Amino acid sequence: MKTVLVTGVTGFVGSALAAGFIKNGIKVVAISRNDNSGWRTLKAIEEAVAQTQNDFSRDIGQMLEVISIEYEKIEDLSKNPLLDEIDEVWHSAAEMTYSKRKLNRSFAQNLEKTSRLYKIMARSKKCKRFYYISTAYTGGIDDQMATEELHVSPILTNSYQASKWAAEMSLAQCNERWKLPVTIFRPSIVVGDEFTGWRGKSSFGFYVFVENLMNIRELGVDQVQIDLDPNALVNLIPVNRVVDYAIKLSQSDSIRDSFEVVHASSGKPFTVVKLAERIEVITGLKIFFGKPITKLDRMLANGVKQNKYFAGRSWHFNQCTMKKVLKRDYEDFKMDATILDIIICRFLWSDDVVIRRKKLMKKRHLRFSKKMSSIYNLQTRIITSYRSKFELSRQSEALNSIDLETQHMRTHTKIS
Ligand SMILES: NC(=O)c1ccc[n+]([C@@H]2O[C@H](COP(=O)([O-])OP(=O)(O)OC[C@H]3O[C@@H](n4cnc5c(N)ncnc54)[C@H](OP(=O)(O)O)[C@@H]3O)[C@@H](O)[C@H]2O)c1
Repeated sequence: MKTVLVTGVTGFVGSALAAGFIKNGIKVVAISRNDNSGWRTLKAIEEAVAQTQNDFSRDIGQMLEVISIEYEKIEDLSKNPLLDEIDEVWHSAAEMTYSKRKLNRSFAQNLEKTSRLYKIMARSKKCKRFYYISTAYTGGIDDQMATEELHVSPILTNSYQASKWAAEMSLAQCNERWKLPVTIFRPSIVVGDEFTGWRGKSSFGFYVFVENLMNIRELGVDQVQIDLDPNALVNLIPVNRVVDYAIKLSQSDSIRDSFEVVHASSGKPFTVVKLAERIEVITGLKIFFGKPITKLDRMLANGVKQNKYFAGRSWHFNQCTMKKVLKRDYEDFKMDATILDIIICRFLWSDDVVIRRKKLMKKRHLRFSKKMSSIYNLQTRIITSYRSKFELSRQSEALNSIDLETQHMRTHTKIS
């Protein structure tokens, strides 16, 4: 039986990946921190199975081994007899912080521990390839036509991006020296399952943006102005598609390069304006584009500041190597409004987000009276009334095109 070593299995992508491997008859050896009983890892996979896999008939317990280890002691892994069973590695665990103050921590996990894990696996008996889950944004903010190769001098904006880029470079050197083949697997922005909207506990980037807009609407405000280019492209890829690409790569019988880079991204990304239209339909909030007008617009701009570099640009990720390796199995993913609605609705009405919203509403109630929201509404209305006819007609078109099905979802769906 083929056996893969997967790290970060208690996380969003890692749990879905492990569920996908097990469904396909591939045994998973999971590396998790602080999980001696293996319970946390098992629960994460069980949830991912329930939410992302149809006709799942395998006994997870039979197909899973958990190694609880702290990454500081990662060399202890070489003493584990399971190591000799491993056919390939999928390294998903990562420090996800963007904070520049946590640069050391990001580099320690994402660069140093990744290289150490590679070296251990390069010495193991059976391992044939080391897949590193990186990010499609290692190209920096200047390179919007990202190709499937290492980026030589990117302009990097946060600790996450910088440490992921450094790990890619380090793995290229490790590969030259220790010869274990490497695949740098670069997903774009991973969102919930395209059929169920399931997103584990993930709530950063895109989700923070959607949640903030919903919260603003709940406060009684009916329009906001966001400082993003409406024509910029947002490349969202559902987690099930990422898993699908991963499993197909793992099972591919193509002749492969010893070092390869592949993008796991959407072939037809959404524009920011289209994304805003779906959020308008779901939340009932009107969205305009331009410099912040109200204090609330400024707060919103502040909240998404970290991701503005990414959401404000049109990224194109070519998938030539992915296509070459998967050949006939390659399937392009095109994001559409229905999938996006499922993903957004599932997120906004999931238990944790509803609880967070209720708490926030309670806290803000005293400070944010109805009078305040009317002032914001009035301010925005006066300024937006001076807009060009074109801008206003776009907004009304968007509102007129409210599709009844989504309206129905908004009022009646409460998915837990
Ligand atoms: N989500 C996205 O939009 C996206 C996009 C592109 C690429 N990716 C990549 O996909 C991978 C997984 O992302 P995700 O969204 O699944 O993240 P996640 O839900 O936060 O899961 C990451 C997992 O990594 C482990 N981990 C977290 N911090 C760690 C640290 N400091 N040291 C060691 N392990 C740590 C944890 O597992 P344990 O506690 O069990 O060890 C955690 O469950 C990452 O490599 C990320 O760069 C994600």
